[in-house]
Amino acid sequence: MITDPKKPKPKFRLHPVALLNSSRLRRSLADTYDQRNFLKYMTAVILLILSIGSLFYTNDLVDKLEEREEREVILYAELVRTITTSSINENITVLLQVIQDAVSFYQIPVIYVDDNNLASQTINIDFPPTASLREREQIIDEKLELMKQEHPPIPVEIGKGRAGYIYYSNSFLLTQLRYYPFIQLSVMLLIGYLAYLAFSSARKAEQNRVWVGLAKETAHQLGTPLSSLMAWVEYFRSDPNIDPSIAEEIEKDVIRLEMITTRFSNIGSVPIMQEEPVAEIVSNFVSYLQRRVSSKVKFTVDNQLVPEQTASLNKNLFEWVVENICKNAVDAMGGIGEINVTLQAPPLTNQIRIDISDTGKGMTKVNMSKIFDPGFSTKKRGWGLGLTLAKRIIENYHSGKLFVKSSEIGKGTTFRIVLPAKVIED
Ligand SMILES: Nc1ncnc2c1ncn2[C@@H]1O[C@H](COP(=O)(O)OP(=O)(O)OP(=O)(O)O)[C@@H](O)[C@H]1O
Ligand SMILES: [Mg+2]
Repeated sequence: MITDPKKPKPKFRLHPVALLNSSRLRRSLADTYDQRNFLKYMTAVILLILSIGSLFYTNDLVDKLEEREEREVILYAELVRTITTSSINENITVLLQVIQDAVSFYQIPVIYVDDNNLASQTINIDFPPTASLREREQIIDEKLELMKQEHPPIPVEIGKGRAGYIYYSNSFLLTQLRYYPFIQLSVMLLIGYLAYLAFSSARKAEQNRVWVGLAKETAHQLGTPLSSLMAWVEYFRSDPNIDPSIAEEIEKDVIRLEMITTRFSNIGSVPIMQEEPVAEIVSNFVSYLQRRVSSKVKFTVDNQLVPEQTASLNKNLFEWVVENICKNAVDAMGGIGEINVTLQAPPLTNQIRIDISDTGKGMTKVNMSKIFDPGFSTKKRGWGLGLTLAKRIIENYHSGKLFVKSSEIGKGTTFRIVLPAKVIED
């Protein structure tokens, strides 16, 4: 849409971009992020408390059950002793049966080894129905070995200095209960992990909606004044009383604004990717930046790529990333220093690595862990969005990586962009 340049409306309204730059928005962005982090940690702490509580409770149950099982076996041992040392008494035989039943009820495996070292009685030991006598003995020997490791045997005095021994192991129920807290903990951890995944993907989806909406609305809003400005440029050109260099300069800025608008409108849409000569794009863009920043900032490009090396890029968005990183570098150097861009494609890696180093103030480890969070900024007038967007552009659209390769306080920082390299045929 072109507005009539003959009727200029010199009105100044608060621009959406200016609105975005308000510190209130920036703070609220960072606050929302902090609140969500707080919620995440609270949930993790509650889950941990529940897990520890349940672990202690089950452990207590296991101890009690173990104590009870031991009492049962001791009682059984006592009865075996009584029955073998007393003259035959019907009542004791009945009582023995009752205790055997109780031991059976708890499913406690028991083996009684008499004074001749013979396993003369077994309770709750399962034998296969077809097992021969020899196989049964083998099974008993194996079980005995295991029982010896689990509990000390209970001696049964049978008089005249002779003694038998009762060996036993934990019931199946007790064994199950022992493993239960670990199974429970694993299930809780799994649930926690799944909840975290769901939580973070919902958060990412929401953030994406906000970014996309904001960017598209900004592009849309910029469209109208831009068309109007273009018409103004034409108007100035047609007026012989106006110096033509003025129109030329304004046009350059309008073109730049159009480029920014295109970048904004590209966010959220699937950007068009093309095989581009990376080194050429970076070198040209660095020269463009050099012209736009103070001459006290010196850019150098160390290109180790072969000229035919390409990568799948969206030129506009990729340049935006380089610009964001370089602008940060200029800020970190206080407007004086050197920015070096190194391009390389190490053999066998299928990667193009673009390192952007500055001689700025560097950053602390704590800050380094936060710089890609939306809203994180150490600058008075920063939005804390530049690196967040840059990371999204590289990782989501270019299937690459963006990270801090190194940073040293007072010495400088190196950011690395990794792009999948197009394989060059020999
Ligand atoms: N080269 C660098 N050297 C030191 N610190 C850096 C460098 N690049 C980024 N940072 C730190 O990372 C923070 C986040 O950077 P980011 O580009 O996301 O936001 P910003 O520059 O503060 O604001 P804007 O959204 O306007 O870009 C910066 O505020 C700064 O503290
Ligand atoms: Mg920035």
